[in-house]
Amino acid sequence: MVASTSYVTPSNTAASGRMAAVVEMARLQRLLFEAEREFVRTATTLIYRVGEPELKYLLCQHVWESAGHARFLRERGREMSGFGSGEATREFLQRLFTEAVMPTDSYVALAGFYRVLKPALLSAYRHYLQVTHPLADWPSRKLAEEFIADEERHAREIEPFLGNLPAGSDAWVAHLRHALAAEGGLLGESVRRPLPGDFVWESAARRYQHPPTCNRGRYPTCSSVFSTDPAETPIVRQWLTDPQTDARVIRLMVYVWLMMEMDAVDYLATVFFDTPQAPFDLHYDLARHLWDESRHSAFGFRQLSKLGVDLMTVEHSLDLYHILVQMPPHERYAMMTMEFEAGSFPTKAAVMDRVRELNDFEADTLLAFDRNDEQNHVRYGHRWLPEIMRLGGETRSVEEFIAATQARFAELAQIHGGRTPHSVPAAQRLTGNAIRRLVGLP
Ligand SMILES: [Fe+2]
Ligand SMILES: [Fe+2]
Repeated sequence: MVASTSYVTPSNTAASGRMAAVVEMARLQRLLFEAEREFVRTATTLIYRVGEPELKYLLCQHVWESAGHARFLRERGREMSGFGSGEATREFLQRLFTEAVMPTDSYVALAGFYRVLKPALLSAYRHYLQVTHPLADWPSRKLAEEFIADEERHAREIEPFLGNLPAGSDAWVAHLRHALAAEGGLLGESVRRPLPGDFVWESAARRYQHPPTCNRGRYPTCSSVFSTDPAETPIVRQWLTDPQTDARVIRLMVYVWLMMEMDAVDYLATVFFDTPQAPFDLHYDLARHLWDESRHSAFGFRQLSKLGVDLMTVEHSLDLYHILVQMPPHERYAMMTMEFEAGSFPTKAAVMDRVRELNDFEADTLLAFDRNDEQNHVRYGHRWLPEIMRLGGETRSVEEFIAATQARFAELAQIHGGRTPHSVPAAQRLTGNAIRRLVGLP
């Protein structure tokens, strides 16, 4: 179901007069819900455009928490007269948040989100707390108090990444502030200031497009970390299931595999902006999916350094992003859930059994949670694929569509895959052979 646009406009009937206090607070909650929804739809475009893994992880976490705020607001809002039954966001919020994605420099865009829009959300929650009745509206008050604490923490968490903003950030921040001030803030809680005469909406002048490649910052890159050649890539397919492979080698290979779920982080993040008509629950589950993948990647990113791997020798694979970004969002989502995720369980099960030989409780725990999360992702896929197909105008059956999408992926892989050369020479790169040496094998 596509959400209908239904807002309550105050009428003069006696009934609405009697409920005016509730209707007014529901109106503000509705705006907060829509602003959080728009943040989820648009801030996700930062994820594949920024380079530091830790920043990608943090953005995924903030997006997930925003989706949570939106969900609680919707739940509470629906208890109140006047929240409205639809889930659509209004035009001024769409325009404001779409404007925020426009800078071609991702760190300028990051500045706009975190210097203007996130502070605007924080002031909106503070405003809500100020104007509502602390006893009558206690259930909402508790939510606002919690979300204020979250927003304050988000501001602290992002600060280390805002230290070195590029030239142009200040001008962009001022530009977005004008756009926000013209509405009097997200809730209209301040005096509206007209837009400057020379103000131009970037989003009206051009359409945002995902970049053809994702940003991995200072880290080396390649096409794929999987092959059958131990002199080329860190993950050697036949070693994963070979009972002769040393379990310590398997553990390092699976940590590389987990770290490369950064692929999934980057390409899944593209789906939100491309599905503006999605029901909120679809974006909510995608936000959870995204955050799970970022945690899986962080498992590998953190454990590899702990086990003595120099992360500058681990190349990041870019093929999946390069190929999938050429496909429409429903095809991207189908490949992810029905092919890559659904297809990974048997090998991962074998790998988990081998790793258990090491009595490494942390590795066992990380792999168990990864498996549990992945089972949920496949469930999300079954639930949402028909919906996202419908949003993309796809009318074939799910089975037919998946088969056609697999074939199309194979074709696109011929054109867009295998285009990223190794950026680390074989002698210095983390390969299967290097992993063997690292654990002390000849
Ligand atoms: Fe994962
Ligand atoms: Fe997954």
